[in-house]
Order: sequence, then C-alpha cells, then structure tokens
Amino acid sequence: MKHRTSQRAHLSAHGLALLAGLSLLPATLPAQTFLPDQQHLFFKADDTKACLKCHGMANFAFRDSSLTRVRDLSVAAAAYNASVHGSLHCQQCHPEVKEYPHRFEPARKVVGCGDDCHATDPKGAPYTHAKVADEFGASVHGATLKKKNSDAPTCLSCHGKGSPHAIVKARKAVTITEKMALCVTCHDDHAVMTRNKVTTEAVSSYKRSFHYKAIRFGETNTAVCQDCHTVHGVLPRDSARSTIAPANVARTCGQDKCHPGANMNFAMSGANHLGLRIEREPLLWFMENFFLVLTLGTLVMLLVGIALDVQRKYGWLALAGKGTRAVGRRTLRLTEAARPALRFAKRILID
Ligand code: HEC
Ligand code: HEC
Ligand code: HEC
Ligand code: HEC
Ligand code: HEC
Repeated sequence: MKHRTSQRAHLSAHGLALLAGLSLLPATLPAQTFLPDQQHLFFKADDTKACLKCHGMANFAFRDSSLTRVRDLSVAAAAYNASVHGSLHCQQCHPEVKEYPHRFEPARKVVGCGDDCHATDPKGAPYTHAKVADEFGASVHGATLKKKNSDAPTCLSCHGKGSPHAIVKARKAVTITEKMALCVTCHDDHAVMTRNKVTTEAVSSYKRSFHYKAIRFGETNTAVCQDCHTVHGVLPRDSARSTIAPANVARTCGQDKCHPGANMNFAMSGANHLGLRIEREPLLWFMENFFLVLTLGTLVMLLVGIALDVQRKYGWLALAGKGTRAVGRRTLRLTEAARPALRFAKRILID
C-alpha cells in the first residue's frame, strides 16, 4: 500500500483510460497500477455508480497471480439493475470494499447467500436467505458441495445463470419445464451420475410416468421433480427426513390438495419412477415382462382369429387372388394405351 494518501480523489480520465486498458489484459498486475500515483478513492456506502465505473466495464478481467485462470470481475450493469438485488448497493453485500486500491486484510470474506446483507425487508426485518441456505446446506447437494465436489449444484446453478449479480425472481418466472430442466441438466448426465454413484435412470423413468405424460399434453398443474423432492432440501430415499423415504412418500403425494389420502401403494405406482423400483425388485421386473408378453400374445392371437374368421366367411384368399389379377390386367391395359405416345417420343428424341 505504498501509494496510499489520505486525500480523496475522483476517478480521473487518465485512471479510466488505464482501466480500459486493463480489460482482458492477460497480465498479473498489482491493483495499484490501475490508478495514477498518489491517488486513493474512498467510496460512499451507497455509491454503486463508483463501483460500476470499473466493474461495469465489459471484460473487466485479469489473470490471477498464479497465472492459472482469468478472473472475470465485470458486473453487467443492465442485468444487475434488472435483478432482484438491483436496488441494493454493492457494499451491502461487499462491506469490506470501502476504498480503492481495495484493501482485503485479512483476505476478503466470500459473500454467502445466507449472510446478513445489511438490508431490511419491507417490514423492517433483517434480510437474509439463511433459511434457504441452511435447508440447502442440510440437503444431499449441500453435503456434496461441502466435500468440495464440483458436480454438486450451488445456488448459482439455478439462480442468475451462474452470476451472483443477475439473479431474477424465481417463483413466478419459472415454467414447469424450466423447473424440470434445473434438475435434468445434471441428473440426465450419465457420466456425472455414475461418477457420484447415483442412478442414471431417474429422468428416463420419470419421463414414463403419468405426470410427465400430462406435461406432454400441455398440463401445467402436475408434479415435476421439485414437487416431490423439494426445491432446496433434496434428500436421498434412505434418509429418514426425505420426502421420498418410504415412510413419508404417501404424505408427499397428499400434500397441497394433490392426492389427499394417498397410501403407499398409490405413491409407488406409475406416478414417479416405476423404473427405479423395477430395477430394485426382480419380481416387478418379471411381472412387467410377463404382462408385456401376455398383452402382445393376446393381440397376436386376436388378429389371427379375425383373419381366419374372414377367410371362412368370405374366402379372402380367393378374393385376394382375384384382386391381384384384376390389377395386373389394368396395368397391362394402361401400358397398351401409352404405347403410341412412347413410340412418338422415341421418334422425336432418337430417330
Ligand atoms: C478504480 C477501479 C475500481 C473501482 C472504482 C472499484 N473496484 Fe473493485 N476491483 C478493481 C480491481 C482492479 C480489482 C482486482 C484487484 C483487487 O482485488 O484489488 C477489484 C476487485 C474487486 C473485488 C474482488 C476481489 C477478489 O479478488 O475477490 C470485489 C468484490 C470488488 N472489487 C468490489 C468492488 C466494489 C463493491 C466497489 C465499489 C464500492 C469497487 N470494487 C470499486 C477495481 C475497482
Ligand atoms: C446480493 C449480494 C450482492 C450484491 C448486491 C453485489 N454482489 Fe458482488 N458478489 C456477490 C456474490 C455472492 C459474489 C460471489 C462470491 C464472492 O466472490 O464473494 C460476488 C462477487 C463479486 C466480485 C468478484 C467476482 C469474482 O469472480 O471473484 C466482484 C468484483 C463483485 N462481486 C462486484 C460487485 C459490484 C461492483 C457490485 C455492485 C454493482 C456488487 N458486486 C453487488 C454478491 C453481491
Ligand atoms: C436445483 C436448483 C436450485 C438450487 C441449487 C437453489 N435454488 Fe433457490 N430456487 C429454485 C427454484 C426452482 C425456486 C422457485 C421455487 C418455487 O417455485 O417456489 C427457488 C426459489 C428460491 C428463493 C425464493 C423463494 C423462497 O423460498 O424464498 C430463494 C430466496 C432462493 N431460491 C434462494 C436460494 C439459495 C440461497 C440457494 C443456495 C443455498 C438456492 N436457492 C439454491 C431452485 C434452486
Ligand atoms: C449441478 C448438478 C445437480 C443439479 C442441478 C441437481 N443435482 Fe441432484 N445430485 C447431484 C449430485 C452430484 C448428486 C450426488 C450427491 C452425492 O451422493 O454425493 C445428487 C444427488 C441427488 C439425489 C440423491 C440420490 C442418491 O442416490 O443419493 C436426489 C434425490 C437428487 N439429487 C435430486 C435432485 C433434484 C430433484 C434436483 C432439482 C431440484 C437436483 N437433484 C438437481 C447433482 C445435481
Ligand atoms: C411424483 C413424485 C416424483 C417426481 C415428479 C419425481 N420424483 Fe424422483 N423420486 C420420487 C420417489 C417416490 C422416489 C423413490 C423411488 C424409489 O425408491 O423407487 C424418487 C427417486 C429419485 C431418485 C433416486 C433417489 C435415491 O435416493 O435413490 C432421483 C435421483 C430422483 N428421484 C430424481 C428425480 C428427478 C431429477 C426428477 C424430475 C425429472 C424426479 N425425480 C421427479 C418421487 C418423484
């Protein structure tokens, strides 16, 4: 911090020119390099514009000191303003950033979605997503994330398309198919699922369910992944608190006026993932195939029966022979009629 003085300064044209040069500079430069010597900025707590003078530039990125990755520090102003957080000031989430060159001593605390963001809701209560963050933290995905497994979703996998500064309202804006896509991106990726010892058939088996078929017919008020598994608190089947644990699954179907009074057999029918159960229970596999053979067999017998019946009543084999001969005669007549025309064409073209 050798250039630091206590004097307040505004970002000069010179400073901005240097900063514009920084955009996508693949160099490792100390932050101080980007302001003319002896200048130091202090930010007012609500001065979002000052932050955006630098961070609002597209491609405001630099290569970090280990030279292994490019850090993108740009915040798209338009997307930020349109986001659910657009009315917040940068410092409400980044309280350590009070001056430039930035001083992060000790190292900057990464902003978590469960933090107290120093804002209040319309009723004056402190605003935080701690409840959702805790629920997510206790879920199978949160546990996987804590193990530093990058296959697990983070809040930003589903909100903001990866950017913490472009999060839009989730509740009403998401259609049923978009909601499903949030889970399907990972759960239909067989490589990711196999790596994590999770069934690869969750999505394909759901797609064979009544619920998904209803979606295909345009129904929007039917169950997708989140309705049975919850949005943020997803737990595996063998966890006692899981909405899909055998002891709870009937209650899950009965929620929100969906299927009041549902019982276990109802819950584990073709409504969700019959395929997963069939994989687990050989008897069901046998029954499924037995009924397939039975149905196909009955159909074939029925068709043969009809054919024989028609033959007995109308002698269709003889009819078919007659028909073929009639068609043959007609074709012959047609060729005869076309012969003069063909001769004529031949004369013009070849002779
Ligand atoms: C003069 C240009 C400039 C201004 C104005 C500015 N920043 Fe920065 N900011 C930078 C540069 C350059 C870096 C990367 C080097 C560093 O960390 O100091 C950075 C880094 C950051 C980081 C990431 C630190 C890290 O490495 O993880 C955050 C967060 C940040 N700025 C927030 C803000 C906020 C909030 C404001 C407004 C209160 C602001 N900045 C104003 C230039 C600026
Ligand atoms: C709702 C809270 C919130 C607000 C408001 C907010 N940020 Fe952030 N910001 C985050 C989160 C979350 C991260 C990602 C975690 C981290 O690096 O701390 C982040 C990261 C950053 C980074 C580092 C990016 C990186 O890849 O290392 C910069 C720079 C930054 N923010 C600048 C700003 C600026 C400038 C503003 C105001 C225009 C702002 N932020 C407003 C939550 C916020
Ligand atoms: C797998 C995707 C997914 C992940 C991961 C996720 N969310 Fe959500 N979130 C959603 C969906 C979908 C909705 C809309 C829910 C609805 O329709 O009611 C939502 C709604 C929300 C809401 C608004 C509704 C409410 O319950 O208050 C908040 C706040 C929220 N999420 C925060 C978070 C936070 C914080 C994290 C990380 C700890 C996170 N989300 C992780 C998909 C996700
Ligand atoms: C970013 C990728 C990703 C997204 C998005 C995602 N998951 Fe997962 N999910 C995983 C991974 C990885 C695991 C394995 C966790 C483990 O066991 O360590 C997992 C585990 C699970 C499990 C437990 C499976 C088991 O056998 O233990 C269920 C159930 C589940 N996810 C459902 C969902 C639902 C429902 C959604 C949408 C709301 C969703 N997931 C979104 C990656 C994802
Ligand atoms: C109608 C409710 C319902 C819907 C909709 C639903 N599931 Fe399930 N899911 C269940 C039930 C119940 C089980 C347990 C099935 C079993 O064990 O036979 C389950 C099991 C799973 C498992 C295996 C969990 C484990 O611990 O073994 C995964 C992964 C999963 N579902 C993901 C999804 C995804 C992804 C979607 C959306 C594409 C989805 N589910 C839609 C109810 C549902």
